[in-house]
Amino acid sequence: MIHNNRLFLHLLITCLMVGPAFADSFKPGSLWQDNNGVPINAHGGGLLRHEGIYYWYGEHKVGGTAGNKAMVGVHCYSSPDLYHWTDEGIALPVSGDEHADIAKGCVLERPKVIYNVTTGKFVMWFHLELKGTGYESARSGVAVSNTPTGPFTYLRSCRPNAGKWPKNAASEERIIPKPESLAKVPHGGPNSVSVRSSLLGRDYEGGQMARDMTLFVDDDGKAYHVYSSEENSTTHIALLSDDYLSHSGIYVRVFPHRWMEAPAICKRNGEYYFLGSGCTGWAPNTARAAVADNILGPWVEIESPCIGVNPQNGLGPEKTFGGQSTFIQKVDGEKDAYIAMFDIWNPKNAIDGRYVWLPMSFNRDRYNIIWKNEWDLSHFDSTKAQDE
Ligand code: DGJ
Repeated sequence: MIHNNRLFLHLLITCLMVGPAFADSFKPGSLWQDNNGVPINAHGGGLLRHEGIYYWYGEHKVGGTAGNKAMVGVHCYSSPDLYHWTDEGIALPVSGDEHADIAKGCVLERPKVIYNVTTGKFVMWFHLELKGTGYESARSGVAVSNTPTGPFTYLRSCRPNAGKWPKNAASEERIIPKPESLAKVPHGGPNSVSVRSSLLGRDYEGGQMARDMTLFVDDDGKAYHVYSSEENSTTHIALLSDDYLSHSGIYVRVFPHRWMEAPAICKRNGEYYFLGSGCTGWAPNTARAAVADNILGPWVEIESPCIGVNPQNGLGPEKTFGGQSTFIQKVDGEKDAYIAMFDIWNPKNAIDGRYVWLPMSFNRDRYNIIWKNEWDLSHFDSTKAQDE
């Protein structure tokens, strides 16, 4: 009897610790609660694995359309297993000073955090639009912390690589156009004006536009900032400085005039894999994918990796299950386990955006992301032998 009571107590404590969060599985698109039973609020996010713990950083959204602006800051959660997430609070709060770069009401999107082994610092980069500028600022913000959960100290923002030409720019692209020859380029989506304009040259002196972004740390410790540039028409991959706090001036243009957003990168067996989206605002479109032998390219575009249909909205590969990519996480300790992370945006009620995490599988020169209603990490046990 005493033994049974102890067992019951143990189970009760375990249940209380785990709280109302899900069991040990992922349910893409379903409400995902933290240790307090509150829906996880970390949109456009990315993960960092540090000393056996995963940290999830993302945009804290509020309800309604106001939530498309940064009203609170960057939220951080921690997890030992990727299923159960503990609320670690706001790692980088927006500022109450309306003149600050990260003033409440600015646009602060797609925060990503990497750890610098040499300096022992956690470095966060994010897409920043200064308050009241719409999406015209196209800047990158950087913040730093001694601990993964913060608080992070905001350092500065910039348009990357001012006064530097990309390594792979041809001589005819290295031209600064006369201001009077520059047409006003429409914001955001595909248009012919930006194809005809030398946006690279236009922004040479002040720095290149940088919107949707990710960070990637290679095996040699070099870190790269990957961002939508040139009015979103072309992606840039830029090497960061050794301390990860600034740009080194070395960068390349990739996917010219292919209008990509939402970049994510992983490396597997020496190959680099890119996942992204087209440019249709908050609305879903067909995922973009590419592979390369070298992080700085050349990159070869391949077809969308998505397969299957999300029964919650009836959307399949043409609309990326209703989602847009945000990050790829390698599962620690597993040889061949990578998780692709997507957001299903809800711009009318931003806080109710949902998360779609799905396993990736690799098949020589392409990779697949197959819809699953529910799955867990044991999925990777059955796929270990693939593409050996
Ligand atoms: C798509 C981007 O991927 C999002 O991060 C956000 O910037 C929206 N566009 C805004 O429309």
